[in-house]
Amino acid sequence: MCGIVGYIGQKEKKEILLDGLQELEYRGYDSAGIAVIENKHLKNFKAVGRLQNLRDKTDSYTSSGFGVSIGHTRWATHGKPTELNAHPHRGEYSFVVHNGIIENYQELKTELQKEGVKFLSQTDTETIVHLFEKNYNATSNAWESFSKTIEKLEGAYATLLITEAEAETIFFAKNGSPMLIGFNGDDVYFASSDTPIIGKATEVYYLEDGEYGYTKDGKVMLFNADGEKSFTKQTLATDKAMAQKDGYRFFMEKEIYEQTQVMNDTMMGRVLESKIDFEELDANLLENISNIKICACGTSYHSALTGSYLLERIAKIPCQVEIASEFRYKEPLLRDDTLFITISQSGETADTLEALKMANRAGLKSLSICNVDNSSIVRESDAAILTRAGIEKGVASTKAFATQTMVLWMLTLYVAQVKKTITPELLKEELDAMRHTPKALLVTDKLHTKLNRLSKRYLHGHGFFFIGRDLFFPLALEGALKLKEISYLHAEGYPSGEMKHGPIALADSELFTVALMPKSLHYEKIKSNVEELSARDATILAISPEPFELADDFIQTIYGTHPMLEFFEMMVVTQILALEISIRLGNDVDMPRNLAKSVTVE
Ligand code: M6R
Repeated sequence: MCGIVGYIGQKEKKEILLDGLQELEYRGYDSAGIAVIENKHLKNFKAVGRLQNLRDKTDSYTSSGFGVSIGHTRWATHGKPTELNAHPHRGEYSFVVHNGIIENYQELKTELQKEGVKFLSQTDTETIVHLFEKNYNATSNAWESFSKTIEKLEGAYATLLITEAEAETIFFAKNGSPMLIGFNGDDVYFASSDTPIIGKATEVYYLEDGEYGYTKDGKVMLFNADGEKSFTKQTLATDKAMAQKDGYRFFMEKEIYEQTQVMNDTMMGRVLESKIDFEELDANLLENISNIKICACGTSYHSALTGSYLLERIAKIPCQVEIASEFRYKEPLLRDDTLFITISQSGETADTLEALKMANRAGLKSLSICNVDNSSIVRESDAAILTRAGIEKGVASTKAFATQTMVLWMLTLYVAQVKKTITPELLKEELDAMRHTPKALLVTDKLHTKLNRLSKRYLHGHGFFFIGRDLFFPLALEGALKLKEISYLHAEGYPSGEMKHGPIALADSELFTVALMPKSLHYEKIKSNVEELSARDATILAISPEPFELADDFIQTIYGTHPMLEFFEMMVVTQILALEISIRLGNDVDMPRNLAKSVTVE
């Protein structure tokens, strides 16, 4: 989840850039950099890791007088989080920062390389600066060169470019990734969201897709496919906390809505036309492996359980899942043909980390699935797959769970490819479904409004049962955990086929049952289980693509063809249900009582 800032004017630029980047820290990043041109001289600094590292590197530098400047925080997608891959990327005399993905970069890069251009990084972004300089070398016209460069780009981008060839101008373009321009007198600012410029700019213009242009002498010239265009500035908000939430009431709500976008980041460069590729995994990771054990806590444990169904069913590899705090003390028998996987959003959960250390001591190969690069769990593992969810602020995990589950689905196909346990037809079917996931995660106004209205009927009672079968059993566990974390109401996740073995004794109209009833997986079986509860007067909230006449409340879902698409769509419903109940109860959704985001104690 990269961030961009830019500034043109007389003020000291280093502090504007670093302060701006600091405001974007919450989005997550693994490296950062700035470039400044003043008096036609270029200065550039980059650092891996925390922004403080960049602050330390730039300690003795201050800009003075008029100049142009750009800065960036990078969340690695193409290429590892190294200093070379950090932005701004340089050509001979220009610098560029970019968010998004240039889909045709490989083609552009190969063309440029044939003409003798040397690339320093593994990123798609570097293509922009070389293409610009190639155009400039031919025309000596910076604006024409920039527009020609933009015309060639396919994919999503928000980009800023500065060049010694025209040292009093910042060039900008936006398509698919957010960017705005801030104004205050002759000072012009750029940023990928409001927060870096709040308190600095007084007015703002939010660029639309397909717009590009340049700023010079305090003026902004704006263009789109139809030519030059006028634009109207708006007054900039002054509340930073509100701006960080992008207008949502809570971070958790924002994170639920973000899932559709972050899923694209999780899949980027990994879900290819006809296979899954993890460039971070060594070819020999699965050599001599005939068993998988996954260890995790809380929500991460629920994604692990989901993964175990997928790994056994599709990749045909035995897979056991353990709660990390239990695993540590059970004196487990570990075999060296086992791949030991840990899953953790934070990468710092003490129980999971200790379980991993035990597996390492026993000589097992280890793989972590984690959202935080360079965290303890990532460092302790032989290999790591980052979930790329961006920073998750809400204590109740949402987008981390979604991306962990996606990584496990991708890993399943990867293992199946390597072990040759999947037919090309099934692989294609799975990949096709996978590419639809971002759509299944979309939250519509209609759905949110319905859940908001319905939530008022679920504020009392003596408890909730979330029930499901197969893959939908771990989702039931996760739905119940979400609800209890933020509403403080009692909720349990249960396999629906188990209700008759005891819990059905609790059934009455004050027992709320949230029934996950996918069409593509055991529909008739779960239907009978829910009918048994309904017959005992339990209140049923059914979630299904199939209308269900015994439901007291019903949420009709759309995707009925693939279990994982149904899974993700129903996951969103359970998350918003929990959110709305918690808001009605007046709770602090983002910081529920007694909970911490990262549990670093046993
Ligand atoms: O950072 P981790 O994924 O290792 O954290 C594990 C659990 O503490 C975490 O998932 C917890 O259950 C969340 N609060 C769930 O919303």
